[in-house]
Amino acid sequence: MFEGKPLAGQTAVITGGGTGLGRSMALRFAELGAKVAITSRKQENLEATLQEITALGGTGLAVGCDVRDYAQVEAMVKTVADQLGPIQILVNNAAGNFLAPSEMLSPNAFNSVVSIVLNGTFHCTSAVGKHMIANESGGRILNIVTTYAWMGSAFVLPSACAKAGVLAMTRSLAVEWGKYKIRVNAIAPGPFPTPGAWERLMPDKALEEEAKKRIPSGRFGEHIELANLASYLVSNYSDYINGECVVIDGGEWLMGGEFNHLTTLPWERLAELAAKIRPPKKS
Ligand code: COA
Repeated sequence: MFEGKPLAGQTAVITGGGTGLGRSMALRFAELGAKVAITSRKQENLEATLQEITALGGTGLAVGCDVRDYAQVEAMVKTVADQLGPIQILVNNAAGNFLAPSEMLSPNAFNSVVSIVLNGTFHCTSAVGKHMIANESGGRILNIVTTYAWMGSAFVLPSACAKAGVLAMTRSLAVEWGKYKIRVNAIAPGPFPTPGAWERLMPDKALEEEAKKRIPSGRFGEHIELANLASYLVSNYSDYINGECVVIDGGEWLMGGEFNHLTTLPWERLAELAAKIRPPKKS
C-alpha cells in the first residue's frame, strides 16, 4: 500500500501508544520511517512497545504523561521535541470507556471519561498545535473517535458525549488551522479487539457473537487495517484530506437502516415478499 518509508524524518506522538490500537499504530508508523513517541499514564505499559519499535529498527521514546493534566502534556511535548526533534504528527488515541446504565453514573464517573477523551484531546492538540504553529512546520493531527460520536449510543454516555466533542474539535480546527498547513482528521473505528476495550465493553463471549452479527462484513477489524488507514491519514498521501472522519467498521454503523433486518431472512422468504409486491407476469 505504501512505497518506501513515507513517514521518514517525521516525529509522531501517539497518546495511549503502549497498548491496543495505539501500540499497533506506533509499530506501523515506525515501520514506515517515523520517530515515534508513545505516551501513557503508566510508564510500564510503554516499555515493551518501545522495545518492539527498536526491534523493528525504528527510533522511539516512551514518555509517561497523564493527558488530563495540561502541565504534564506541555512537559511531554518539550521532552519529545528535545529528544526526537520537532513534532509533525499527533495521534489522540488515549481513551477511557466502560459499559454502564446511565442512571448508575456518578458525576465523577462521567468526568473520568470526559476528562481523558475530550479534555485530554484538547490538551494534546493545544500543546502540539502551538508547537507546530511556532515551528511553521505544518502538521497532521489524527483523532480516534467512534461512529456513535454522531449517532450517540446507549450505555456509553460519557464516551458518546466526549467523542462528539472531539469530532467537533476535528472539524473546527481543520478550518481554523488550515492556514498553518495543519490538517486535522479523525478515524471512527468499529470493533477492533483489544484487551482494554474488550474487558470494558465486550465482557463475555455471547455479547461478542451478538456484536459480530451486526457487522455486514461478518468479522471484527484487524489492527493492521486501522494502522494502515492511520498511516495514510498522517502521511503526504492524504495531503488534500482535511476535516474528514473516516469510518472503518465493516459497515456496522449503517445497520440501523430501516429494512436492513431483512438481510437475516432466507432467500425464499425474500422472494415470497417480493412476489407479493410485484406478482410474476402471466405468460
Ligand atoms: N461503571 C460505573 N462507574 C464506573 C465504572 C463502571 N464500570 N468504572 C469506574 N466508574 C466510576 C467510579 O465509581 C468512579 O466514580 P465515583 O468516584 O463516583 O465512585 C469514577 O468512575 C472514576 O473511577 P476510577 O476508577 O477512580 O477512575 P480512573 O480515572 O482510574 O478510571 C476509567 C477511569 C474508569 C475510564 C478507567 O476505565 C480507565 O482509566 N480506562 C482507560 C483505558 C480504557 O478505558 N480503555 C478502553 C477504551 S475503549
